[in-house]
Amino acid sequence: MSTNRTFTMIKPDAVANGHIGAIINDITTAGFKIVALKYTKLTAETAGQFYEVHKDRPFYADLVSFMSSGPIVAAILEKDNAVEDFRTLIGATNPAQAAEGTIRQKYAKSIDANAVHGSDSDENAAAEGDFFFTAGERF
Ligand code: PPS
Repeated sequence: MSTNRTFTMIKPDAVANGHIGAIINDITTAGFKIVALKYTKLTAETAGQFYEVHKDRPFYADLVSFMSSGPIVAAILEKDNAVEDFRTLIGATNPAQAAEGTIRQKYAKSIDANAVHGSDSDENAAAEGDFFFTAGERF
C-alpha cells in the first residue's frame, strides 16, 4: 500500500445508530477516495488480533468485546497526507474532546464507543488494510 492511504472502520455503535451513510459522505466530501470497502463483523478472536498492540492496556477486553458486538464497515481511503488528515477529520479519541464538526464530535457518544477508527501511522495503515482486504479487493 502506498503512503497516501489510510485505513478506517465505522464502529458497531455508529453502524447500529444508522450513521454509515452520513460518515461515508463526510469522508468523501473531505476529499478521500474509497479504494476498498467491506461490511463485516469481527469475532472476539479477530478483534483481539486487530487490537493486539493494546493487549496490556486496561480497556483491552472491553474494546475487543465492543468491536465484536455488531457489524462494522472497513475501508481503505486514499488522499494526500491520508493518515494525518483522516485523524484530523475524525477528531480526538474521546468525543468529549473532539473538535466541532469532526466525525467523533458529531456521531460518537463515549470514548469506548467512538464511532470510527483511523490508523495512526503509514505502517499501521498498511498492516490494517492487509488485515481486512486481499489484493483483489482493493483498487
Ligand atoms: S490512539 O488511537 O492509539 O491514539 O488512541 P488510544 O487512546 O491509544 O486508544 C487506542 C484504541 O483504544 C480505544 N480506547 C478505548 N476503548 C475502550 N475504553 C477506553 N477507555 C478506551 N480508550 C481508548 C480507542 O478508541 C482506540 O481504538 P481505535 O479503534 O484505534 O480508535
